[in-house]
Amino acid sequence: MRLGSGSVLKVTLGSRAARWHAWRASVALAVGVLSLGLVSFMALLPAEGVEEESAPEETVALPAPIDVEKDEPPEPSPEPPPPPTGSGVDCSVVACVALTFDDGPSAHTGALLDRLEELGVKATFFDTGANARARPDTVRRQVEDGHLVGGHSWNHADMRKQTPATACSDASRTADAIREASGLDASLLRPPYGSWNTGILRACRGKTFVLWDVDTMDWSTHDVTKITDHAVNDSKPGSIILMHDTVAETIDALPAVVSGLRQKGYELVTVADLFNTPLAPGQAIYSGPRTGVPSP
Ligand code: NI
Repeated sequence: MRLGSGSVLKVTLGSRAARWHAWRASVALAVGVLSLGLVSFMALLPAEGVEEESAPEETVALPAPIDVEKDEPPEPSPEPPPPPTGSGVDCSVVACVALTFDDGPSAHTGALLDRLEELGVKATFFDTGANARARPDTVRRQVEDGHLVGGHSWNHADMRKQTPATACSDASRTADAIREASGLDASLLRPPYGSWNTGILRACRGKTFVLWDVDTMDWSTHDVTKITDHAVNDSKPGSIILMHDTVAETIDALPAVVSGLRQKGYELVTVADLFNTPLAPGQAIYSGPRTGVPSP
């Protein structure tokens, strides 16, 4: 296409007009953009202001931080199983002995608990599972009175005549019966007849076997004087004294046993309290440390 000078002028004029329009359009656009930006900016300001105002309200209104803190950690670590009584006596300094009663709970155990309460003595019971199941209220009282309770097999079986698996299954059932009755996690176990071996001890994971070093022979003699003499005369610092809450004469002997041991300067504590540290599972003990010195 050919263009004449008029056309050139028109084009020139047209270009000027176009540039004018373009300039106006640019200005208008710029003003528009600026206005929009300003409006947006203004719109943002109050929005932030609202947030800032409402934020503290939310913080104040929500007691949430406390709830959140409660929920986040896996609950305050579960309470340890009801602890041994915690006599407050340091048996590494003062001579202590532990009275232990096996084979119950029986018809005599209530009277024994009354007498222990009168004498202010904490003891250790080794209940069979069958008897714990039969007298759950007595098991509960043993624990509520501050005594320590362990298991003594389900039905007084000789563990060495059982397979380790059966012996430990009996031990678990017994611990279940004690827990259901009292809430106590019974980690102590006294093997009936003192009959055990390391294979059984290893198989019954988590259990501490508690034997004895003083046998009052109450189960054999049923004689108050002989029971008392054995308990008082055979004891040394740290002794674990074997008695039975199935024997009526043992309950009769108790006041003389307690006063005789106290006259010798012994503190009477639970088996666990003979030790300064928690009893580790997987061990068998016959006595506490021999370190305490009898009180004058
Ligand atoms: Ni027994």
